[in-house]
Amino acid sequence: MTRLPSPVATLLGRAEPGPPAPEGSILAVRDLSIAYGRSVVVRDVSLQAAPGEVVCVMGRNGAGKTTLLKSIIGVLPAHRGHVYFSGREVTRRPSYSRARSGIGYVPQGRGIFPYLTVLENLLMGLEPVRGRQDGQLEEVLALFPVLKQMAGRTAGVLSGGQQQQLAIGRALMGRPRLLLLDEPTEGIQPNIVEEIEAVIGSLRGRMTILLVEQFLGFALANADMCYVLERGSISLRGKPTELDATRLQEALSV
Ligand SMILES: Nc1ncnc2c1ncn2[C@@H]1O[C@H](COP(=O)(O)OP(=O)(O)O)[C@@H](O)[C@H]1O
Ligand SMILES: [Mg+2]
Repeated sequence: MTRLPSPVATLLGRAEPGPPAPEGSILAVRDLSIAYGRSVVVRDVSLQAAPGEVVCVMGRNGAGKTTLLKSIIGVLPAHRGHVYFSGREVTRRPSYSRARSGIGYVPQGRGIFPYLTVLENLLMGLEPVRGRQDGQLEEVLALFPVLKQMAGRTAGVLSGGQQQQLAIGRALMGRPRLLLLDEPTEGIQPNIVEEIEAVIGSLRGRMTILLVEQFLGFALANADMCYVLERGSISLRGKPTELDATRLQEALSV
């Protein structure tokens, strides 16, 4: 097949093949721009995560955090730039293929199937491993005992916090090596927030986590690296201990 010339490829939202994947990272995003129609809402974002790291993306509402995660999993196409996973460029791969290669995604608002049972929701999470079970269900039910109690109930009756546990559990069923978490503690009762944070903490080291979070305390205590998005661009980045607290407050205050 003939390769499209660059301007046409760009118009179609297809990125040119990029340079080889950066070494030592499981996820690398290079100069990524993402648009809705003609409106570019994420611009020239670069970030990376090494295996086992927890990387946090922060930013006000509307900064582009969800858009960035959707483009990493492949729900939104890249306008420009590149996404690499596990040493390979995946920029033009469809989302199911990225999921099968080991990227798990917990969308903002959880995205559970309310009319299916808890167990059925969890089993949907087996798609990335083509239905192959090797103990994930037992592990997930051990991690979230409430899901075991509620296994036969319709997911729509669960509380917000329980639905969030279900959404994380479903992603874990696919045995991800990289887990994308979009505001997992949003809209959840404070006492349950701690439970969810503890679970995320317990996943640390077992997989790479890219966490979008507004709660600074947890993010700063747990992240190896933080990136702050402002109006679609990274305005601040660093290890939590190295971030300028004043700049951080400025970037996140409403
Ligand atoms: N489907 C869409 N169509 C057009 N613009 C959108 C769409 N979704 C989000 N946006 C815009 O993109 C920007 C980034 O949104 P989003 O990624 O959801 O931000 P965040 O997750 O940081 O709150 C916002 O200005 C938002 O209004
Ligand atoms: Mg969002």
